[in-house]
Amino acid sequence: MYESWETLKNECTKCTKCDLCKERTNVVFGEGNPKSEVMFIGEGPGEQEDLQGKPFVGRSGKLLDKMLGEIGLSRNKNIYIGNIVKCRPPKNRDPLPEEQELCINWLRNQVLLLKPKIIVAVGRIAAMKIIDPNIKITKQHGTFYLKKKTWMMPTIHPAAILRNPNQKPLVEQDFINLKEKIKEICTNTY
Ligand code: URA
Ligand code: SF4
Repeated sequence: MYESWETLKNECTKCTKCDLCKERTNVVFGEGNPKSEVMFIGEGPGEQEDLQGKPFVGRSGKLLDKMLGEIGLSRNKNIYIGNIVKCRPPKNRDPLPEEQELCINWLRNQVLLLKPKIIVAVGRIAAMKIIDPNIKITKQHGTFYLKKKTWMMPTIHPAAILRNPNQKPLVEQDFINLKEKIKEICTNTY
């Protein structure tokens, strides 16, 4: 456990614990307000994220930012965004279970420093890893689960909405649920 964000980020960006280090351009550590009460966790960097070293900056990220803005959230203001794995899997394949397991300690350390009140798992892979390995995202998205004193909500990945725009209202409802939960339990997000 590293006690400061600076040391944690420095160590993480040197990581070679799994083979994903071999093809990466950048380690995508995560970004946002380190005093946030709300944390978003995706599965891992894609092409743009790898090139820019920042989470959710490609097409999915643009859509995510837009939907976040609609409920008053922004990575520049009141949330933190990270990923299960910090290096891009080749051709954007799903990160392997062993890659996730080797990388997740970085995320755990981020959570220990942030101490978020709410964690949103963005997409199936993140939801399986941090909420429930048997989660059915199509049924359970938008629902809150209390785990280790932290409220956790799975939502549908913005990449899925880009493939299937019919799902957009479902995610908008998830975000409305999120906004209500924030109003209920957070004190300095809004
Ligand atoms: N998809 C993710 O899950 N994470 C990112 O950072 C970008 C796209
Ligand atoms: Fe290290 Fe995670 Fe990158 Fe693997 S994906 S090299 S564990 S930072």
